[in-house]
Amino acid sequence: MSVKYSKETLNDRFTLFTVENGGSKNTFAEDVIAGLTSDPKTLPPKYFYDNAGSELFEKICSTPEYYVTRTEASILKDKSENIADANKGKDLIVELGSGSSIKTRYILNAFIKQNSSVNYVPIDVSEILIQSGNSLLSDFEGLYVTGIIGEYEESIEAATKIFPQPKLILFLGSSIGNFDLPHAEEFLGKLSASMRKGDSLLIGFDLVKNENVLNAAYNDSEGVTAEFNLNLLRRIKREFNSELNEDNFEHKAHFNSNESRIEMHLISKCDHSFSLNGSGEIKFRKGDSIHTENSYKFTDEMIRGLASSAGLTISESWKDENNYFELCLMNKDK
Ligand code: AVI
Repeated sequence: MSVKYSKETLNDRFTLFTVENGGSKNTFAEDVIAGLTSDPKTLPPKYFYDNAGSELFEKICSTPEYYVTRTEASILKDKSENIADANKGKDLIVELGSGSSIKTRYILNAFIKQNSSVNYVPIDVSEILIQSGNSLLSDFEGLYVTGIIGEYEESIEAATKIFPQPKLILFLGSSIGNFDLPHAEEFLGKLSASMRKGDSLLIGFDLVKNENVLNAAYNDSEGVTAEFNLNLLRRIKREFNSELNEDNFEHKAHFNSNESRIEMHLISKCDHSFSLNGSGEIKFRKGDSIHTENSYKFTDEMIRGLASSAGLTISESWKDENNYFELCLMNKDK
């Protein structure tokens, strides 16, 4: 794969690269039609994150029930110096799915104390990284930001081309949990293949825990997660100019213990149908589901299995006091 990108200098400490998609990927319309005409009906979770969806996700992170972000942030706050110590000599931090970069501040702080200057490379599909990059630059002296807007695989390839020095890659928030397990294995394998000897990956895993805690986190009492799920239908309605009525659906999320994952669905409240450009009528019976997301919850065994199949060595890991979440440092030794 030979990645193509354009470069823009925003200021003397902020450079922005935009990676071309290369036209090989399906479009939103193709993915939506394929998902809604398949059996069972599905929609890819990556489409949650339009502007409204990204804002709703930030709101989810501060609901009392969604412990994930808060717990990971508390580990980062307590352990960022240990993380910097375990990565001595590295001044390059690449973050996949950086979003608002709030939790990353703990790491940047610890690295800047150690190195005096740090190159931070946030990667995201959304332009949110311009805003968050500017805010980081005004708070951290000695920080240089090189944002990459694009999908993970191409962007990491671009980052490796642009910066040859040893790096720490961050993949936080248990975002790996939104991949199906074979895809998570494949993704980590590709990520590992793009890493050079001496590079490390700091990756967050949400752990298996009491089902009530898990179910509450995806069914918050203010209904923010429900809005996040239903927003996907609003996006489809808007982008297809369709007569789809999102009020005909309701949010459902539950922990499936056999699969070790939270499943999110949109359940049809009545019999109805709608059309999407040339795809014919998409029909729903009352109770039919669109499966919109899986969020895997990990055991130590699952984590060790993923690392070893990717050819990475876990050198250290950190958990919170409730054992809700684990951050693992995985190294590329060969
Ligand atoms: C981004 N990802 C790790 C979140 C999760 O917990 O799986 C997305 C999310 N979906 C509903 N709430 C949060």
